[in-house]
Amino acid sequence: MNLIFLGAPGAGKGTHSALVSKHLNIPTISTGDLLRAAIKEGSALGKEAEGYMKRGDLVPDQLVIDLMRERIAKSDCKDGFILDGFPRTVAQAQALEDLGIGIDAVVNIDVEDEQIVKRMSGRRVCNGCAATYHTIYKPSRTGEACENCGLTLVIREDDKPETVSARLQVYHEKTAPLIAYYEAKGNLQTVRGREELEETTKAVFEALSL
Ligand code: AP5
Repeated sequence: MNLIFLGAPGAGKGTHSALVSKHLNIPTISTGDLLRAAIKEGSALGKEAEGYMKRGDLVPDQLVIDLMRERIAKSDCKDGFILDGFPRTVAQAQALEDLGIGIDAVVNIDVEDEQIVKRMSGRRVCNGCAATYHTIYKPSRTGEACENCGLTLVIREDDKPETVSARLQVYHEKTAPLIAYYEAKGNLQTVRGREELEETTKAVFEALSL
């Protein structure tokens, strides 16, 4: 199964792709995680992407398309994959189509902007494996450390309120048009992202008939 998770920053794409990934035993490919890893490594891609990400802007299409093309070609994707945060522009969606890869479903998690801003202030991420937590909605059972690898949980650099507003603006301008794009293709499933994580998870699994 090849799936796409669509939605505003903080809508819950990463959280739910991780759950569906575990259920279906297929990898999640998060462009955000790949880019953050490239920054940590200090690679040429990381150096180029860093400024855009700090401002809350999108990294240029061609850089992300090349990154995804390479990642999807790896052997762990042969039985399917979940894309989290890609495509994010119509040009990226067209590039994905040009690769000749069929998409079975696109799950759009719909959350109001006010809710997103409130939510982002409580997000914590693992400095090692990038697992995501929330101080209220999904606290780590081990306090300030990651449940998976024990490393420290941190606030993501682009989760500052001013950067979150910039990211939301970019989302409405450049990514939201993908809702109509996939609706026209007939494989869009919109799920309302509710305050309770479990309710959203249930709706996501129902939308995918899992
Ligand atoms: P990326 O890392 O993809 O960030 P994003 O899309 O802004 O999404 P987030 O990771 O912030 O949120 P999410 O929807 O995964 O929510 P999460 O599950 O964590 O991208 C970062 C940057 O990289 C971009 O700004 C851009 O610069 C660049 N980039 C990435 N892809 C690109 C591309 N294709 N093209 C160009 N540039 C690209 O949930 C958020 C929080 O809420 C968590 O704490 C979670 O526990 C909690 N939560 C989740 N669901 C619920 C719920 N229902 N109720 C309560 N809490 C919930």
